[in-house]
Amino acid sequence: MASNWSGCLGEGLSTRLVWGGWRPGEDRTAGSIVPPVFVSAIYSYPIGDKSLEPRAGDLKYSRENNPTVMLLEEALACIESGEWALAYNSGMSSIASILLAYTGRESRITVARLVYGTTRSLAAGLWRRIGFDLRIAGPPWEDLLEEAEASDLVIVETMANPTLRIPPLLDLARTCRKSGCRLVVDNTFASPILFKPLEHGAWLSVESMTKYMAGHNDVTAGLVAGRGDDVYRKLWDWRRAIGGNLQPLDAYLVMRGLKTLRLRVEASSKNAMELASWLEEHPNVSKVYYPGLPSHPDHEEARRLLHGSYGGVVSFEIRSGDPIRFLEKLRVIAPAPSLGGAESLATLPYYSSHRSLPEDEKASLGITPRLVRLSVGLEDVEDLKRDLDNALRNI
Ligand SMILES: Cc1ncc(COP(=O)(O)O)c(C=O)c1O
Repeated sequence: MASNWSGCLGEGLSTRLVWGGWRPGEDRTAGSIVPPVFVSAIYSYPIGDKSLEPRAGDLKYSRENNPTVMLLEEALACIESGEWALAYNSGMSSIASILLAYTGRESRITVARLVYGTTRSLAAGLWRRIGFDLRIAGPPWEDLLEEAEASDLVIVETMANPTLRIPPLLDLARTCRKSGCRLVVDNTFASPILFKPLEHGAWLSVESMTKYMAGHNDVTAGLVAGRGDDVYRKLWDWRRAIGGNLQPLDAYLVMRGLKTLRLRVEASSKNAMELASWLEEHPNVSKVYYPGLPSHPDHEEARRLLHGSYGGVVSFEIRSGDPIRFLEKLRVIAPAPSLGGAESLATLPYYSSHRSLPEDEKASLGITPRLVRLSVGLEDVEDLKRDLDNALRNI
């Protein structure tokens, strides 16, 4: 963080999202209402009294720090209730930095069974190279709690892809507080609008900002937020070494997306809730996974943890017909593998995000070839219903 950071602007989350710490008076050239984008790769750095050894707050070279990115990071720290935040050029880049910084030969790492497929493959790839003790556990969530107790680092998602399972995050945080494990929560599906991991005992909060945070399907970005100077310094050093810093134009796009984050998450959650209830009644749908529905296995946990909305992702199983034809029949909803943007997207996790899992594991997690993951956007919900109904009836 910049050493001259003056703290969070405003007490409320909406104020922090809209202004992101930027005040027009800070731009002495024009009084710009939105922050400038500093594209310079290099910054004036007379040696003088400055250290030759790079320091986390120094502005010298854009792979290390960039003024636009630093402004975003100040906003993110406030939004995530952290002492600091680091922005990365993708969600995976942020997860990779944590694993690189905090795993060694002696480490014991637990990754929840139901996380984004690439997170699991990355952990497995590092495990093969470094040889640490890697455990994959939960659901059932009791297994995850048991493994967490004996682990150094645990990675979970607030709402896990693609069946929206919600781990017992408060119990996990309690377990880790007692045993000393470091709890990393990937909060991508919830965003800070629905849940703030650092307020509930997580050691680090991670987001793929490609999704809700930026929100317009036009940027890839990631963040890590946390507390404590030593953790910040260690992660900053790794980010600098592997070149994972976010680009300034992308930082600007994320800041622009943040201004409407609350409105977008609330609107897509409302659409998703309506679609989930509607899909439960549809004759060609055999199962719906949405944490807002009483039929979801973690509905009670969702009611306890999330701030009154249940997110914009709904998964469902097609009763009969060809699921690939279903994707082809959609006209409003696009068949594409992401989530959290203004546009509704649908994907088949069996063939995309979870294709590398063994067959028996996919089956036990409910990831069948008929499972559709729908990221509900901001369109008119009646158009989305018409589109889904037409596709479901004509396959
Ligand atoms: C939960 C979750 N975490 C992390 C990632 C990786 O983010 P990115 O694509 O920005 O690298 C994704 C991507 O889909 C995701 O769904």
